[in-house]
Amino acid sequence: MKPYDTKNERKPDYDVDKIFIDRWSPRSLSPDLSEKELMSLFEAARWSPSSSNGEPWRFLYAKNESKEWDIFYDLLTDFNKIWCKNAAYLIVLLSRKNFQPDDKGNEKTDRHHSFGAGTAWMALALQARIKGWIAHGMAGFDIEKAKKNLGIPENYHINCMIAVGKQGEIEKSIPERMQKSEKPNERKKVKDIVYEGRFPRDKWK
Ligand SMILES: Cc1cc2nc3c(=O)[nH]c(=O)nc-3n(C[C@H](O)[C@H](O)[C@H](O)COP(=O)(O)O)c2cc1C
Repeated sequence: MKPYDTKNERKPDYDVDKIFIDRWSPRSLSPDLSEKELMSLFEAARWSPSSSNGEPWRFLYAKNESKEWDIFYDLLTDFNKIWCKNAAYLIVLLSRKNFQPDDKGNEKTDRHHSFGAGTAWMALALQARIKGWIAHGMAGFDIEKAKKNLGIPENYHINCMIAVGKQGEIEKSIPERMQKSEKPNERKKVKDIVYEGRFPRDKWK
């Protein structure tokens, strides 16, 4: 795994592979990621598990400065626009709501299409981390605008956007106020998210 420039003081509660602690979401991006490198992230994603191997995930992307870039970039919130201007690619992660049609053209609902897309996102993110690149998930964008401007039909769900790039120089790629939070954050303890047995109503409000 290639190191990031930033210090990482995260400590696991239990023994775990370093990659899970070392994946985080920097905003200091640089756009020099080739299309072949991008494809290697989708390669990681496509081997993800899914219900009945339905492979519900679909990825739309735009390369920085390409003719499609503005359509994707304009979907973002003002906050995300600030740091995403240096991304190499912007991705929109979709999932097909139904399984593929059978011989008679009938489609069954895939109740876990979004779960599958989430699994694929994590594979993509971990592959980026292994290479020392950045994949940063985003909810901060206009879903209705995305549907309209990207021509996404009703049988596809929009899960999130992802900014991808190599690690940029912090001082050059993000404004000072963002630099302060440019470090790995913390998590709840294992004991607070795991419970043996039936739902603990007194614990999980
Ligand atoms: C679905 C999803 C949506 C997110 N939306 C945004 C976003 O709009 N803007 C942003 O800067 N970060 C966003 N993040 C990054 C999260 O804030 C980040 O993953 C979380 O704080 C945990 O930190 P880490 O990824 O650095 O470990 C998003 C992450 C995910 C997975």
